[in-house]
Amino acid sequence: MLPALFFLTWVVAASSGTGVRAAANYGVFSLKYRYSGQEKSLSVLKAHDTQRQLRILAGVDLPLGGTGRPDAIGLYYAKIGIGTPAKDYYVQIDTGSDLMWVNCIQCRECPRRSSLGIDLTLYDIEDSDTGKLVSCDNPFCVEISGGPLSGCTANMSCPYIEIYGDGSSTAGYFVKDVVQYAQVSGDLRTTTANGSVIFGCGERQSGDLGSDNEEALDGILGFGKTNSSMISQLASSGDVKKTFAHCLDGTNGGGIFAIGHVVQPKVNTTPMVPDQPHYSVNMTAVQVGLEFLNLTTDVFEIGDRKGTILDSGTTLAYLPEIIYEPLVSKIIAQQPDLKVHTVRDEYTCFQYSESVDEGFPNVTFHFENSLSLNVHPHEYLFPYEGLWCIGWQNSGMQSSDRRNMTLLGDLVLSNKLVVYDLENQVIGWTEYNCSSSIKLQDEHSGTVHLVGSHYISSESPSCDVTALVAFILLMTLLQIFIYQNM
Ligand SMILES: *[C@@H]1O[C@H](CO)[C@@H](O)[C@H](O)[C@H]1NC(C)=O
Ligand SMILES: *[C@@H]1O[C@H](CO)[C@@H](O)[C@H](O)[C@H]1NC(C)=O
Ligand SMILES: *[C@@H]1O[C@H](CO)[C@@H](O)[C@H](O)[C@H]1NC(C)=O
Ligand SMILES: *[C@@H]1O[C@H](CO)[C@@H](O)[C@H](O)[C@H]1NC(C)=O
Ligand SMILES: *[C@@H]1O[C@H](CO)[C@@H](O)[C@H](O)[C@H]1NC(C)=O
Ligand SMILES: *[C@@H]1O[C@H](CO)[C@@H](O)[C@H](O)[C@H]1NC(C)=O
Ligand SMILES: *[C@@H]1O[C@H](CO)[C@@H](O)[C@H](O)[C@H]1NC(C)=O
Ligand SMILES: *[C@@H]1O[C@H](CO)[C@@H](O)[C@H](O)[C@H]1NC(C)=O
Repeated sequence: MLPALFFLTWVVAASSGTGVRAAANYGVFSLKYRYSGQEKSLSVLKAHDTQRQLRILAGVDLPLGGTGRPDAIGLYYAKIGIGTPAKDYYVQIDTGSDLMWVNCIQCRECPRRSSLGIDLTLYDIEDSDTGKLVSCDNPFCVEISGGPLSGCTANMSCPYIEIYGDGSSTAGYFVKDVVQYAQVSGDLRTTTANGSVIFGCGERQSGDLGSDNEEALDGILGFGKTNSSMISQLASSGDVKKTFAHCLDGTNGGGIFAIGHVVQPKVNTTPMVPDQPHYSVNMTAVQVGLEFLNLTTDVFEIGDRKGTILDSGTTLAYLPEIIYEPLVSKIIAQQPDLKVHTVRDEYTCFQYSESVDEGFPNVTFHFENSLSLNVHPHEYLFPYEGLWCIGWQNSGMQSSDRRNMTLLGDLVLSNKLVVYDLENQVIGWTEYNCSSSIKLQDEHSGTVHLVGSHYISSESPSCDVTALVAFILLMTLLQIFIYQNM
């Protein structure tokens, strides 16, 4: 039951010159969300979340903004086209960071090969008719560097550096080029659209981003909330709306990742906590079954990280000790005969042979504006060596730099359509069957189109075949990879 891997494939149709671009202002990704079908090693799982949190906190602490690196487990990626003529790049999709960057032709230590079964490509500005250097006097450069960079004059290219929690880093310079993405053009149909985006050209990589990383990708595509992210850039030039949504199917695998205004299903929303580097919202209460935990309001303001961080790149859910302890006791108290083991010092596990959904209570997190997140027992319990383990973690027990943070990962975010509306600064969700379709509305024309996870195809029939073959091939390779690594 444990979600192990996400795979996201950006369906890129070969250029279909039909030019439907004009009005449509949303894009769509085909999301592959995989259950391994087997138990994941707890240490691997935990290592992944640890890396992830170090990265999140690095993002908080470093003024240079977004950070991101491909993780060993929580890996979902898209194929995007960059340049003219467009070349394919495979980039990790990350809602926890802002910048987009790809490995650059000048890079000596960059990975050339990936065990993911994809061809890696180094970006070469000389190969693209539309590629331009971004100079130090460009407003983007000044903004992202937090002011004019000393020693960097108007005729020099704007440098970037990102440093990660584990000490690895990427550095290079910014370029501006055309990026291609799939755009909804009809019910269950997409076409290729493009927009000009500033992104990093990575010259020097160290640590896990360097040539030794087996599961290498070409780069990272950050869907974070600052206006340096690709979605913000596309939105500011009117190409897309600054709203995206994901639906991770925890039952069958698959799912949707789309840019644009979702009109169906309807979601209730809660405001984002302002001035936070990540997607944070305010939790107000925790309910177990019919009972509320007796918590004072200041419990939800613990630590200097305000609010509850939503991060689909983290697997488990992390709660402050003061919430974790009563929550877990209440869950376990439902079955007085339960023999509880602590596995690996931190997982609360027990044997239970009946249906967990019948034997354990739903847990409901309440948020501002009366929005609630209902988590069923099968979503917070995962099987491990014949036991069931609780997917909540005590963040008060984590290392001091992650003290008592509240972070909800994909274990609780799956089977929900989650909408990130940056224009109105709200986040919303609703329980949803992620194998079915959603409806996106075009803001200009008002047209509503169906978007489904398994039905994305290109405009012209000849492209369908190419895209489909590429897609199936990629999925097959990924599957082989997963099983080899179990
Ligand atoms: C971008 O889209 C426009 C409008 O559809 C098209 O004319 C142009 O050729 C595209 N550019 C690239 C590089 O694909
Ligand atoms: C980013 O947002 C800030 C404040 O909202 C604004 O001043 C700035 O011009 C924006 N930068 C870009 C590159 O859009
Ligand atoms: C860049 O500009 C500075 C002064 O503005 C000048 O001294 C330098 O020679 C220029 N460099 C190049 C490579 O043009
Ligand atoms: C969230 O909680 C903080 C601290 O209690 C409060 O200042 C803020 O107004 C609340 N709401 C939002 C949307 O930030
Ligand atoms: C809730 O906790 C407070 C102190 O934290 C206590 O005074 C009160 O009796 C508790 N209420 C219930 C119903 O347990
Ligand atoms: C949990 O919630 C679901 C609806 O989301 C409901 O059908 C089920 O009965 C609830 N389980 C319990 C034990 O209350
Ligand atoms: C987390 O919170 C608990 C109780 O509020 C406190 O005792 C503990 O020291 C905190 N942990 C850290 C690492 O700050
Ligand atoms: C979810 O939607 C798919 C496709 O429409 C359908 O086949 C499936 O039965 C639905 N699942 C549930 C639990 O309703």
